[in-house]
Amino acid sequence: MLKIGFVGWRGMVGSVLLDRMRDEGDFAGIEVHFFSTSNPGGAAPEGGANARLRDARDIRSLAGCDVVLSCQGGGYTTEVFGELRATGWDGYWLDAASTLRLRGDATLVLDPVNGDLIRERLAGGCRTFVGANCTVSLLLMAIGGLIRAGWVDWVSTMTYQAISGAGARRLAELARQVRHLGECGARLRGASSVEIGAALTDAQRDESFPTEEIGAPLACSVLPWIDRAVENGQTREEWKAGVEAGRILGASAPLKIDGICCRIDALRCHAQALCIRLNRDIPLPEVESALLSGNDWVRLVENTQAATLRELTPAMVANTLEVRVGRLRRLSMGRRYVGAFTVGDQLLWGAAEPLRRMLSILREAA
Ligand code: HSE
Repeated sequence: MLKIGFVGWRGMVGSVLLDRMRDEGDFAGIEVHFFSTSNPGGAAPEGGANARLRDARDIRSLAGCDVVLSCQGGGYTTEVFGELRATGWDGYWLDAASTLRLRGDATLVLDPVNGDLIRERLAGGCRTFVGANCTVSLLLMAIGGLIRAGWVDWVSTMTYQAISGAGARRLAELARQVRHLGECGARLRGASSVEIGAALTDAQRDESFPTEEIGAPLACSVLPWIDRAVENGQTREEWKAGVEAGRILGASAPLKIDGICCRIDALRCHAQALCIRLNRDIPLPEVESALLSGNDWVRLVENTQAATLRELTPAMVANTLEVRVGRLRRLSMGRRYVGAFTVGDQLLWGAAEPLRRMLSILREAA
């Protein structure tokens, strides 16, 4: 029976993964040992093979596992991965963090898109599998079918990313910002809409507005910068798009995907507005068929106001596994330009689900 060591099961990605594993009955047929960096010896969550938490820094204990599954973050991976491998451990390291994504011996996992590549690498002895950046995974879940058809020249993606992608503390701060504005608004009974707008703007700019974690007012605003700067004015989040998409698909070079990544005050879903340049004039119904052929979770939303507002918003897609694509139309720039808008839950297909499914692939292969 495959013995799994699960580290980082309490954080946002880890707890969503744990819930999904329970929902899918994944604990049957595997032995899961829960590890902790902060509370070894404490009580393990239900479903584990042992009632007590193991020490996540105990290399010998980790080395006793066939698979180490980490949602603990990049710092932990940096601290432990090399030391564990140095013992000669050749188990599977399965990780949500970005630390190992660019290693030559690592494979990025998104099996509805690159299942063949994953199985090929597995058969070839690959032992390090890593979940890709959430925005990239969601983009490929949305338009992977079109890319696979060989019709895409390049993609411009303008993102609207949920605060959960920035971590639990920032999500909590967004809630405080919303409450702050709500309380300010509640004091303005009888005020005109212009007065309300001005008072809320003043509140956002006031020193008392809670911005310690996020660094700026986000509630009722948008932050057009995610992660640190890299070269050419890009942010690292923007740089990842082409680089990681290429690695997921096993391409020898980055794909031509670029745009501006923005943080918005959505909670769980990342949305992306796309301009897709096709390499020839393809009728829209064929574009739609190619999109639908991508995987079982992509769903098209009719390009009408009613369907868009009902089905194509972060509020309506959160907590579902569907990756929706709508606003599909030919853009006025020319017949090879197609516009689309896509929304998906960044904690599910953007993080936990590819790892959960990789665990199933490992179980089947064992
Ligand atoms: N980098 C993403 C974000 C997190 O900031 O939204 C998901 O990988």
